[in-house]
Amino acid sequence: MWDYTETVKDHFLHPRNVGEIEDADGVGMEGSLACGDALKISFKLDDEGRIADVKFKTFGCASAIASASILTEMVKGLTIEEAAHVSNSQIVTKLGGLPDQKLHCSVMGEEALKAAICNFKTGKHATRKTPVGRIICNCFGVTENDIESAVRDHHLTAVDQIGDLTKAGTACGSCKDDIKDIIDRVLKEMKNEEGKPAMTNLEKIEKIKSVIESTIRPALQQDGGDIRLIDVEANTVKVELQGACSGCPMAAMTLKGFVEEQIKQLVDPALVIEAVR
Ligand code: FES
Repeated sequence: MWDYTETVKDHFLHPRNVGEIEDADGVGMEGSLACGDALKISFKLDDEGRIADVKFKTFGCASAIASASILTEMVKGLTIEEAAHVSNSQIVTKLGGLPDQKLHCSVMGEEALKAAICNFKTGKHATRKTPVGRIICNCFGVTENDIESAVRDHHLTAVDQIGDLTKAGTACGSCKDDIKDIIDRVLKEMKNEEGKPAMTNLEKIEKIKSVIESTIRPALQQDGGDIRLIDVEANTVKVELQGACSGCPMAAMTLKGFVEEQIKQLVDPALVIEAVR
């Protein structure tokens, strides 16, 4: 029996903003019926570019319904830029908490909202985020990067905890050994990093180059874009977006929400990205 907060129960029993907006400005879908969870979010903007109406449909459990319901309340009245910063952690906090095994429901809310914003900005429909990096869990499309981020950001140490957050390993289970290996590797790296002298500038640049080549460039190239490292000054990484990425209305989000996140997670949390034309 899950232990739900009163807020979760309230939003599950009386979900707000259920349905679909017919002439929506943005529509996003995350998850799949095959996995047992799916969430669709649609929104309409007012004349000032703020979210005037937002609705959701889900095939998920109580936590998925509550997460989506409270998310719709959280984003009403926000601009697109403000809504793009709403995170799964904020959803969980607003709900007063979720059982560990249900944290992935809040992640699904965040991803569906991002997909709807992406649809508004580009006209493209994305039913799932493009996986970045080697896929470890084929059942749920969870990558090595996703698992590494979960360990680093949430200080997770067990395979079951990774499953609670990402669903990896919670279906056929054939990926559990690989997940365990990644956890052990990352925990060891984190331990070694403690008390280690800061990277030299040369080491930092080499690591940034390696992350761009192995992770960032392949993801951008999937959408016809590209990236070039221009310079690194102290903690500012100067890059140029190329191809379809240059001039794309999503360029700022790509830089901050993807490129910077990858560099922070895989090189150094102090680094920031700056676009150079
Ligand atoms: S491959 Fe990960 S649960 Fe099936």
